[in-house]
Amino acid sequence: MSLRVEVFDDDEWADRVVDRWATVMRDAPASRLCLPTGETPVPVYAEAARRIDFTAATVFVLDEFDLPFGHLARCDSMLRRDFLDRLTALPAAIHLMNPAAPDPEAECRRYESVVEVGGLDLTLLGLGANGHLGLNEPGSTADAPARVVRLAPSTIEAASRYAQDAEPVIGMTLGMRSILASNAIWLLVAGAHKGEILDRTLNGPIGPDVPASFLRHHPNAVVLADRSAAEHLATPVA
Ligand code: PGA
Repeated sequence: MSLRVEVFDDDEWADRVVDRWATVMRDAPASRLCLPTGETPVPVYAEAARRIDFTAATVFVLDEFDLPFGHLARCDSMLRRDFLDRLTALPAAIHLMNPAAPDPEAECRRYESVVEVGGLDLTLLGLGANGHLGLNEPGSTADAPARVVRLAPSTIEAASRYAQDAEPVIGMTLGMRSILASNAIWLLVAGAHKGEILDRTLNGPIGPDVPASFLRHHPNAVVLADRSAAEHLATPVA
């Protein structure tokens, strides 16, 4: 199966993603949103915070690193800094994962059950350099539940970009199962450095080696890519 790809000029990419997001939130203000952190969504969040009213929405963080609370590389810190702190009014509910919970696996089950009670209307995702989604690292199956995960080396390296002293080894993530159960999924891909893994996501074998490839089985998933990420695709996109 194939995954729909929409490509926008680099300098318009964030605006076009937010155009779509604004439409979703206007039509369904109480949307249940699963949101990623990392570099990719930063310009999208900045623009969305200016243009969209999220006060009726419910937000779920996609994943979390096992770092001390308040650490700059933690996903909740990034979500606050890049998105929540920019809003004039907070969403109705914000759900976070707590790696410091006494029983981390039970914390994952708790989180997953909160997600699954009402499901997810829209999940935004970044694309890991190794094809991960959230912290569903290579080797993750399509039915993987929310769980504690050991991080791939490239993920640890990426985390150290967010804060110099960040070397998380363990994380928690919503599983592929919950992600793939989302009504709509937008895979956000920006920058030439994502070109090769985007190509594998779209054109390589579907399977655990590139967890993002499972999106090709989803009926309502789309890649929203900037031209830099898309220009070297083996199968060019218009
Ligand atoms: P990035 O990370 O947006 O910082 O490139 C994406 C990811 O690893 O999921």
